[in-house]
Amino acid sequence: MSQRPYVIDQMISAKSIAARIEELSHDIEAEFKGTDKLVVVGLLRGSFVFIADIVRELDLPVEVDFLEASSYGDGMESSREVRIIKDLRGAIEGRDVLVVEDIVDTGHTLNHVTHLLQSRNPARLKSIALLDKPTRREVDFRSDWIGFEIPDEFVVGYGIDFAQRNRNLPFIGKVRFSEADAEPDQT
Ligand code: IMP
Ligand code: MG
Repeated sequence: MSQRPYVIDQMISAKSIAARIEELSHDIEAEFKGTDKLVVVGLLRGSFVFIADIVRELDLPVEVDFLEASSYGDGMESSREVRIIKDLRGAIEGRDVLVVEDIVDTGHTLNHVTHLLQSRNPARLKSIALLDKPTRREVDFRSDWIGFEIPDEFVVGYGIDFAQRNRNLPFIGKVRFSEADAEPDQT
């Protein structure tokens, strides 16, 4: 796909993200204190950096599993119909589960995924999203923990992509189209 030229303006620094994750990890530890096993479920692919950082901050016995739901394809538009492309490897019945997502946008993805996982009768099911765009919401969904609320901007970095690019940026940046530049200024 040929891509209109764009630049990336930093919105949330790597340092701010790390500090916020440390704060959130204390809340998560308090919630799941005494668990014999917490299954931390990352939604592929956007949460892969976030889940890696969160689990390393958690002083709890954890297992990690992954689930992939269909989302944007290669564009900037959300698809309202959510499909499970890759399911969990393990059973979660009777388990404590934390679902980790990169962004809650329209809310369809996490709403669908949490309902699906709830139907498998976990002991406890909570969710955390690094970013939340509350003004974009189309379904009534609230994540239990949010890293940062952001305005309606298209963002990349820290695992989050635009047409599969820019996941490797250590910070969160917003995409700004610039006809002047031929290439993104960050890769
Ligand atoms: P929702 O179902 O509309 O809440 O969409 C959530 C998914 O859309 C996220 O997991 C992301 O993969 C994707 N998404 C939403 N906003 C952005 C963005 O600003 N940049 C990149 N992906 C996004
Ligand atoms: Mg996603």
